[in-house]
Amino acid sequence: MLVAPSILSANFGKLDEEIRAICDAGCDLVHVDVMDGHFVPNLTIGPVVVQAAARASSKPLDIHLMVENNTFFTELFAPLKPKYLSFHIEEEKHPHRLIQKIKSCGISPAIALNPHTPTESIEYILEEIDMVLLMSVNPGFGGQSFICSSLKKAEKLRKTIERAGLKTLIEVDGGVNSKNARDLKNAGVDILVAGSYIFGAPSYKDAIDSLRV
Ligand code: DX5
Ligand code: ZN
Repeated sequence: MLVAPSILSANFGKLDEEIRAICDAGCDLVHVDVMDGHFVPNLTIGPVVVQAAARASSKPLDIHLMVENNTFFTELFAPLKPKYLSFHIEEEKHPHRLIQKIKSCGISPAIALNPHTPTESIEYILEEIDMVLLMSVNPGFGGQSFICSSLKKAEKLRKTIERAGLKTLIEVDGGVNSKNARDLKNAGVDILVAGSYIFGAPSYKDAIDSLRV
């Protein structure tokens, strides 16, 4: 199981220190939530802060766009060379075109699904992407409770990926902690994003290790 701490729950007053700490604690990716105040009722960070985060990080970035204008934000963040760039399918009229654009920048494209969005919505595009991000809370805020139907959804998606003979990774984001990590693993999830669970823990290393079930 790979672990991607979401810096949304970090102390932004000492962001570089926080990022170094999670990298030293052995995380695999650094999850960066970009919110525009339109797609979700919250506003987070832009390229200047993400660039500072990239400089502090010894691990690849996993940028999660929660925005209305995906093309604009892709152009803004592509120069920072994240490993993954996820956009929400609910907000994209031309996902295939955007995926090609992300790939042409040398970045692995990923699609994010809100809790209510069926996995069928990405059936014909699955082979074009490297990862599916399943939201297990409503996007916008850290510290919310895990929506249990996400487990069934992950299981179903894993079967679809296997049937298609693909290597697409499944990432789950929202309300993840040591209590649901085992069930998520059994459902076929590859990457866990956790914000409040890791940054709220006395030891980042112990918290990260507890998710590696
Ligand atoms: C929510 C974000 C998440 C969030 C997760 O919109 O996409 O990455 O930071 O936070 P926790 O782990 O606290 O639910
Ligand atoms: Zn996220």
